[in-house]
Amino acid sequence: MSTKKVTKAVFPVAGMGTRFLPATKSVPKEILSLVDRPLIQYAIDEARAAGIEEFIFVTSRGKSALEDYFDVSPTLEASLKASGKDELLQILGTTNMDDGRIAYVRQHRALGLGHAVWCARRLIGDEPFAVMLPDDVIAADKPCLQQMVEAYEETGGNVVAAMEVPTERTKSYGILDVAEDMGDMVRVKAMVEKPKSNPPSNLAVIGRYILTPEVLNTLDRQETGAGGEIQLTDAIAREIETSNNVYGFRFKGQRYDCGSKAGFLQATVAFGLARDDLRDEFSHFLTDVVAAQKLAQ
Ligand code: UTP
Repeated sequence: MSTKKVTKAVFPVAGMGTRFLPATKSVPKEILSLVDRPLIQYAIDEARAAGIEEFIFVTSRGKSALEDYFDVSPTLEASLKASGKDELLQILGTTNMDDGRIAYVRQHRALGLGHAVWCARRLIGDEPFAVMLPDDVIAADKPCLQQMVEAYEETGGNVVAAMEVPTERTKSYGILDVAEDMGDMVRVKAMVEKPKSNPPSNLAVIGRYILTPEVLNTLDRQETGAGGEIQLTDAIAREIETSNNVYGFRFKGQRYDCGSKAGFLQATVAFGLARDDLRDEFSHFLTDVVAAQKLAQ
């Protein structure tokens, strides 16, 4: 199928991150780090691997540390250079963005994820685009968004990342009602945001989307949904009615919900153990902690 290339990604980062207070009183949630890299860096690396060339951040008051993070830091670079710390210089280089490739737009009021994406409408224009929630960190051999772009090239339309969750967790997610199951891909006949009961399936939408610009037209209406917020899920669901072109994609990888404390801790352990420079020391420590806990019980 001939599809238009996805070169833009929107990163909605205007939420208040209340689950991480007091840390997020002065530090944006997206700057909190797994081992030594902020959540946002994982999302940017994943986007780059998928061929994204333009990075659009929807920010809010108190997020200036996020903008600074992507700036060139001449003093720090000069100091590392002078002391011959080439490896660190190289690491620092991965945080720099090419001129004109990064844009910030402000969401003045936190009216919901759909509203945050709508705030970026002029920068998105009339082309397909990705939405990435940096809270969702996905460890995968092939980065999740890259898998989705490849799937999208086959189907076109709107593709949302989906994963199976236990029934008791469905009330925390957007849940897919499946019309046709094609294995990795499902064709979606309805989407329900945080169903209180009777979820149509166990397939939950997580924070990666490839969307058609038509979704922005629906968001133009500013209709509120679950929780009184302008929901992205509702706008995508409308595409099912008008175009029948919404797909769920079962990505391969392990997703960590770093917007929650438990998920963040799990990711910290997993990413710590995945690091060659930390694995031995860290796994010994964990073994000792678990043994001490067992003894104490
Ligand atoms: P969350 O509700 O999980 O994040 O929104 P939050 O509001 O920052 O965190 P808590 O619940 O208070 O701890 C998911 C994503 O959508 C963005 C958030 O920044 C996060 O990346 N978002 C949400 C917005 O950009 N604007 C909004 O109005 C709502």
